[in-house]
Amino acid sequence: MKTVITLSELHQERKQLPEPVGLVPTMGYLHPGHLSLIRSARKDCASVVATIFINPMQFGPAEDLTTYPRDLSRDLKLLEEEGTDLVWIPTTEIMYPPAYQTWVTVDEVSKRLEGEMRPGHFRGVATVVSKLFNATQPQKAYFGQKDAQQVIVIRRMVEDLNYALQVVVCPTLREPDGLAMSSRNSYLNPIERKAASVLVHSLRAAQTAYEDGERSAENLRQFIWQILASEPLARPQYVSCAHPETLIELDGMVENGALLSLAVVIGKTRLIDNLLLSDQSLQLNYDEKEATQIER
Ligand code: PAJ
Repeated sequence: MKTVITLSELHQERKQLPEPVGLVPTMGYLHPGHLSLIRSARKDCASVVATIFINPMQFGPAEDLTTYPRDLSRDLKLLEEEGTDLVWIPTTEIMYPPAYQTWVTVDEVSKRLEGEMRPGHFRGVATVVSKLFNATQPQKAYFGQKDAQQVIVIRRMVEDLNYALQVVVCPTLREPDGLAMSSRNSYLNPIERKAASVLVHSLRAAQTAYEDGERSAENLRQFIWQILASEPLARPQYVSCAHPETLIELDGMVENGALLSLAVVIGKTRLIDNLLLSDQSLQLNYDEKEATQIER
């Protein structure tokens, strides 16, 4: 495994990689969720490129940029064990030199849900992901369903800006109690950690209601709100039952699938999670289903 920092080193190494190249962008502090993306890329592609970059442009002024967890040597070891070929670890100065002034904005889908709570977040994500695509020139790029809106924003960007690459979405990896794996879970103390499973429990309760025939979007949201209310440590920010591509909130019946998603603050930690309703929407998002099957 090669590790590079500068753009010229990256270009040099990239030239020598057999294609297709699969890219896995990360902010580091890797957990099995990240590694499942590497594993999917490994299965699909001749070469796997991972990036580790804590992108300051996607953090709001009151967010956790300075305290975001880091462990580079552990990350590199894990990436090497998974058979990664090349890791790019740019510095902030490389990504955003002082004269930097170009931004990628994906309009509508960036405004909702996370975008409403975290203004500028998706401008930061779209900009950095676009730079990572340009620098690494992958044929495929791997993202987690865990950050469903991020996937929707990136897919829109790929189509709108004519990137000749395929976005592959990998399923959310979870802890044994169902909590979606996240680098931010490390902020939770043991009591908060226990409380955090309410996110997935509330989503699963709504999913069960859906499977039992409940189709009212409002009732599904209410199921989730009620379960979240049963956990005193959970402070919900939003609960959504939305169209899985436009993220427009559904107000009538769920007809062709929906994305259930939520954001909840527990202690000082903000957690997000989501579930897709209906097989149809799963196919829509997992068009690489074969390639993303992972052993658990
Ligand atoms: P980060 O939070 O490090 O996540 C990197 C990738 O891992 C994302 O595609 C994310 O959706 C995926 N991921 C995280 N937790 C997961 C889980 N439990 N199961 C499956 N996949 C999971 O997302 C980012 O970084 C950044 O916004 C980035 C895309 C790198 C741009 O800066």
